[in-house]
Order: sequence, then C-alpha cells, then structure tokens
Amino acid sequence: MSTFKTLDDLGDVTGKVALVRVDLNLPMQDGAVTDDTRIRAAVPTINDLCEKGAKVLLLAHFGRPNGERVSTMSLSMVVGAVEKVLGKEVMFVPEIAGPVVEQSVGILRPGDVAILENTRFWKGEEKNDPDLIKAIAANGDFYVNDAFSAAHRAHATTDGLAKALPAYAGRSMQAELEALDKALGNPVKPVAAVVGGAKVSSKLDVLKHLVTQVDHLIIGGGMANTFLAAKGVDVGKSLCEHDLTGTANEILAAADSSGCTVHLPYDVVVSKEFAANPPSLRTCNVHEVAADEMILDAGPAAAEALGDVLKTCRTLVWNGPLGAFEMAPFDAATVALAKTAAALTIEGTLTSVAGGGDTVAALNHAGVAKDFTYISTAGGAFLEWMEGKELPGVAALLV
Ligand code: 3PG
Repeated sequence: MSTFKTLDDLGDVTGKVALVRVDLNLPMQDGAVTDDTRIRAAVPTINDLCEKGAKVLLLAHFGRPNGERVSTMSLSMVVGAVEKVLGKEVMFVPEIAGPVVEQSVGILRPGDVAILENTRFWKGEEKNDPDLIKAIAANGDFYVNDAFSAAHRAHATTDGLAKALPAYAGRSMQAELEALDKALGNPVKPVAAVVGGAKVSSKLDVLKHLVTQVDHLIIGGGMANTFLAAKGVDVGKSLCEHDLTGTANEILAAADSSGCTVHLPYDVVVSKEFAANPPSLRTCNVHEVAADEMILDAGPAAAEALGDVLKTCRTLVWNGPLGAFEMAPFDAATVALAKTAAALTIEGTLTSVAGGGDTVAALNHAGVAKDFTYISTAGGAFLEWMEGKELPGVAALLV
C-alpha cells in the first residue's frame, strides 16, 4: 500500500493548531442528529490530538449549500451532538478563515475543540480555490484528514489543505485505508464481491472494475434482473433496465475472459405486488416468473449456494442488498448471506469489508454489522473506491 503519515508521526504538538477534516454530513430530522456514527468515527482522532495538547479545529461540510450561507445548514446545529459524544464542551466558530478564527484560536487552550462553520458556505471550497486554502491554512500548524467519506471530492478542505500544510491521516482514515487495502488492494484470494441494489446504471463502473479484480461476483437486487434478462430470462414485471442488457452482456463477457465467476440467483422470491407478506408471494425457479410477477429477493436455494461460495473465499467486499430488504420477507436472502459472512469472519476464514448506506442498514438489520471485519461509513467514496478510482483526498495524503 502507498504510504501516508499518521498521528504517530506527529512530534510535540502542544499548543499547536490542528485543522482536522471530519465528516459531519449527518442525518438530521427536525434539527436533531438521528445517527451519530460519523461523529463517533472521528472521536479517536480528536481525543488523540487533544491528549497530545493540540488545539483542534474541526472542518466539515453539511449538505450542498452551493457557496451560500444557508442557516438551516449551519454546523452550529451539530455542536450539541458532538459535545455529547466527546463528553466535553466544544466551541462553535461561524467562519472558516480570517480574524474570527484567529481570535478563537487565541481563546482555545491546548486540548480544546472547536467546530468551524460549514465549509461549503464558501464558493472556494468546492473549487479547491488557492486563496481560500491559504486563508484557512494561515490559522493552522498542521492538517489531519479523517473524512474518508468525503475523500472523493477534490475540495479545499479535502485536497488543497493537505498540500498547503504538513498532512496526516486521522485514525478513522487510517483504519479505512488499511481495511480497503486488505479487501481489494492486496487481498488474500479467492475474493468475492457482493454487489446489489436497484439499478445496474448506478454501479456500471463498479461492476466493470470488479470483474477484473475478484474471483466471484455475486449480483443481487434489482440489478440482477437486468443480467437475467440479458441471459434471455423473462423477468415479468420486475424492476429491470432492458436498455442495459447489452452492457450487462459485455460485463459478463469481460468476467469470462478474466476468470471471474458471476453468480445470479436461480431461484427467486416473487410477488404480484410490493407489500409486506403479500398473498401472491411464492418462490420459484428464475425461468418460471409469470408476466404479472416481480422478483423481489433471491430464493433460499440461491442464498445457500452463495453462502457455499463464500465458504471457499478468503476475502469479501459487499455493497448493496440482494433483495428489497426493507420489507419482509424480501430481506431473507440478504440476512442469510450476511449471517454466513459474519460466521466465517468470526471463525477467522474470511476478511469481510462492507460499505454504503443501504448496505450498512441491511447488515444492521441482519444484526451482524459488528461481526464484519470492517464497515465503511462512506457512501459515494466507497463506491468510487470500488470503481478503482483514485480518491483525491487520499492521493493528497500520500508521501
Ligand atoms: C457523504 O455524505 O457521502 C459525504 O459527506 C459526501 O457528501 P457529498 O456527496 O455532498 O460530497
């Protein structure tokens, strides 16, 4: 793996100002944070820097305010939630550069933490503007990036600052990069990938890259229907991108020539309507789907066979559910396969890495998220990494 500096490489930073990029793009409802996972992910870095006596200035974006101050997107809203998780008082600074930040730094004592305003209130953030980078850097001594989930953006606080100041990967970034390296960078083979979700179109580049990297590609969710249709299966009323069957066939051919086995379900759970436990629910062979039925999950035989595939593998990378897991009983295949992956991980035969919002929700629903080797908090960044793309926020940290 390419190298980057970590907090272990810091010298004496007592009284020095750390500009720390974190991801506070948190799910909120009625002004309250509904999931503090991303705050908790940043705690090891914040605590480490505080213990080292640094003054910690947190930089983060929230939403997409497009370079305008939008009061409903002020990071002042998350201060309470961050204080709760950190168990200490946190100062809020309504700017990201200039004299107000300078004065705040003067007030902070070593080991104190402040949250600066939403970086996307300034147009220069998304433009990676040199003037803004210089202005932010003027108030810091060094830069730490702990926001892997924003690393696919080449913005001032994810990319530019890393080049303007001595730059370090935070603990969460470090853990993420090490886990991802084990999953696709330098994995123990054989490697399996599970890619699910509604549409092939949203994960085309992921699929194209994975067939050249992994030994087994398990395709699930709505996107499996497009592949089944490409193979001539009549998928009835199922969600299916019929215009992409040609592309699906190209992916299957590419898999074939690089020795990747693609697994599609051969039994499926179907229904005439998408509702919980509908009367028309039945399990059938993929070749027996009626014109008025839709495929909503992989069947039990397929789930078992996929579990057997995982038993032959040493590494698993998972993004996307196998069925419409948010409604019972269409969660069954996802839950069954997730449990198999978790059991193999606990036994020590499988390194399992998963990422993406839906995936984390599905693994939590199966009650096995804690048993996976690593769960990424990233959405878009995780997908871009699965596409084999270089992430600017990561590249900027490499030495
Ligand atoms: C995320 O929530 O995935 C990250 O914070 C990135 O947000 P963005 O897609 O608005 O850049």
